[in-house]
Amino acid sequence: MPAIDNPTEKTLAELGLTEPELVARQFASVREQFDKELLAKPGDEASYTQMKNAWLGRKSGVLTAITEKWLKPAAPALKPIVGQSLNELKRHIESNLESFRVAAEKASAATAAAREQIDLSLPGVQRPIGSRHLIRQVFQEIEDIFFSIGFSVVEGPEIETPYYNFEALNIPEYHPVRDDMDTFYLELPKGAPGPLLLRTHTSPVQIHTMEKRQPPVRVIVPGKVYRRDNPDATHSFMFHQIEGLAVDNDITFCDFTGTIDYFVKQFFGEGVKTRFRPSYFPFTEPSVEFDASCIFCGGSGTAKTGGTCGKCKGAGWIELFGAGMVDPAVYGFVNYDPKKVSGFAFGIGIDRLAMLKCGIDDIQVFFQNDVRFLKQFP
Ligand code: DAH
Repeated sequence: MPAIDNPTEKTLAELGLTEPELVARQFASVREQFDKELLAKPGDEASYTQMKNAWLGRKSGVLTAITEKWLKPAAPALKPIVGQSLNELKRHIESNLESFRVAAEKASAATAAAREQIDLSLPGVQRPIGSRHLIRQVFQEIEDIFFSIGFSVVEGPEIETPYYNFEALNIPEYHPVRDDMDTFYLELPKGAPGPLLLRTHTSPVQIHTMEKRQPPVRVIVPGKVYRRDNPDATHSFMFHQIEGLAVDNDITFCDFTGTIDYFVKQFFGEGVKTRFRPSYFPFTEPSVEFDASCIFCGGSGTAKTGGTCGKCKGAGWIELFGAGMVDPAVYGFVNYDPKKVSGFAFGIGIDRLAMLKCGIDDIQVFFQNDVRFLKQFP
């Protein structure tokens, strides 16, 4: 009922309704009001509850107000007609509200059913399945090659002490080679033992491994390494290496070069030749740099389309990675007897190898995670 001029706020006498006919008309208008309100409501369950409270609510419903204001104080002569009209009105409201409720319930069940209905002819939701990153794939491929000749995989920490990253690898402080391996040092809480750094190569895991195991040792170590390099097409402050280490009491330089040659042929193809050149690393003696015959021009130095091969710059050879026979000084750090053991080590840059194998000319694409790139290596 509208708040303005609400007739249920007054008694029938105050409204001037003293004749039964007028009373009946008044009830008819209330009923009309109810019908109008109900018709205007959306047919949902919330409307039902709201109408029920408004009209039948015990405390402030319209029928309660009518009982209090119209029935109770009614003149004795009018009471029967007021009582009868009120009962009729109540029955009308109750039965109409009940029909409204049933209809509302049906409607909400119908919308729920419609919502839940599955249209099997619709295409399904396509969830793209990711693939392994090219770097992971190359790791796996290299690991498989070394598994096949008796190596196993070990891993080591990316946060290192200078002892493992440098000293135990025969790189004392102030050794010039440290200039090439400038790295990130960790900010440590005051009083914490330090310094700690992000490893610049996987070589420290050689030391961890030899500290824990006695020869024979044949391991490879895949992992991330860090350097303070500015990013460009061939440099990144984080990249990937696989370290290799084989130590036993009878390992020769021939075992070394034969192993590397086997690996390179497995990885790049049987037709690829290898060669090594003298080089320098503090933890190997002698040290070498391995090259493969250029996989783009077949080692001829001439591009297939004529002219100088742009990849090897006409040399016919492409530099692969560093390696060497383990320097006896390193054995001293891990309590191996340098007179009894010998071995070789190598450190393969994975990003570089992946770039060579797949003809990628910018290392940054590995770290940008552009799906258009990733999708080319499913
Ligand atoms: N640790 C070297 C680097 O990151 C790579 C390397 C060279 C590793 C020779 C070796 C090795 O094990 O024998 O530059």
